[in-house]
Amino acid sequence: MGVECFVTGGTGFIGQHLVAYLSAQGHTIRVLMRRPERLAELREQIDTLGGCASRVFAVAGDLQRDTLGLSLADREVLRHASVVFHLGAHFAWGLSIEQSRAVNVEGAKRVALLAAEQKSRLVMIGGYMLKNHDHLQRIGIDPRYPQRTNWPAVYRQVGGYEASKLEAHFATLDVMAARGGEMTVVHPATVCGHSRTGHIVDGQPLVELIRNLVQGKLTAVPGTARHWLPLVTVDYLVELVAACAFDPAMAGQELLALDEQTPDLRELLKQLAHPLGIKSPNYFISLRLLKLLLRIPPVARRLNTQPEALDFIQTTRFDTTAVEQFANRHGIAKPEIRQSLQHTATFVNSHCLARGQAR
Ligand SMILES: NC(=O)c1ccc[n+]([C@@H]2O[C@H](COP(=O)([O-])OP(=O)(O)OC[C@H]3O[C@@H](n4cnc5c(N)ncnc54)[C@H](OP(=O)(O)O)[C@@H]3O)[C@@H](O)[C@H]2O)c1
Repeated sequence: MGVECFVTGGTGFIGQHLVAYLSAQGHTIRVLMRRPERLAELREQIDTLGGCASRVFAVAGDLQRDTLGLSLADREVLRHASVVFHLGAHFAWGLSIEQSRAVNVEGAKRVALLAAEQKSRLVMIGGYMLKNHDHLQRIGIDPRYPQRTNWPAVYRQVGGYEASKLEAHFATLDVMAARGGEMTVVHPATVCGHSRTGHIVDGQPLVELIRNLVQGKLTAVPGTARHWLPLVTVDYLVELVAACAFDPAMAGQELLALDEQTPDLRELLKQLAHPLGIKSPNYFISLRLLKLLLRIPPVARRLNTQPEALDFIQTTRFDTTAVEQFANRHGIAKPEIRQSLQHTATFVNSHCLARGQAR
């Protein structure tokens, strides 16, 4: 039976796929939109992605505004939402502490308050760096005592986007604990295009990687033979997120959505290059050296890379037993990641590089 859902970030990459999936399942979806006049465009996209556009509605608002900038009438309508999915975020490199906090931390707290107040289940999208405990320790976060974190120091080390996502996670847990709200967090790895169509949108980290490969800016593999960029396909992720929302056992739980079969970075680049008939790099450049080079602005511009992006390339391996068991329990099949990479490269080449932006 269909239920009412409220989705923030529903116009974004993962959000579009989530709204398409949920609406195809018969749910009614209300999407927080800064520009509600773009609903027709969103609906068209939802249909293209296999969803049911007539079940999708806009709610005017902004994560940066008090009480999300909702009208009283919309606030009443949203009270019927069984689930609030929070995906909205300001994703960009080089954000200041103020810019990133205003949307990613304060916005997340506002969404959590709304969910807790009206007793909706909150499904929050975090990020997989929250499950890299060595990394958290290195940058001064002890997940058992997040209140001891020197946040400005974390922002200086890892940049506004990542730091604000980390801070938002702990701030949201606090809000929900204080208000007795029910919350599930899904932590995705870097998101790959759709496993069959390759659909992805411009601005996603993987699109930039493919762009750099095609434009000959990636002449060496960042890191070593042990480095990888963990991925998850958008369709697998969205199925996991939706299943979490309606599984009572997932209340109060966190799920790492990451495909352990993602190849190492050199092989990943090979898989992306193959369908495009281009060469991928064979040699490595140390991450430390690359980060130093990227501090020189003309070099960063020339290579179209920011030092913050390199933090996601790592040697840490993750325990994915929980997500595999969860997927099995819900009958969710994990797509083949190498094929998904090839489809994504083909999609990016024909939609993002050749014809401009993909929605
Ligand atoms: N993509 C990844 O590889 C990845 C990996 C791990 C975690 N995540 C997390 O997953 C979530 C979704 O990511 P994504 O890749 O789908 O992001 P995206 O494509 O950049 O979309 C961001 C969404 O947030 C909305 N948004 C931004 N600022 C807002 C504001 N002030 N008020 C209301 N809405 C606002 C955007 O709306 P507009 O249309 O108005 O701009 C858009 O719908 C984020 O929380 C991200 O941190 C993503």
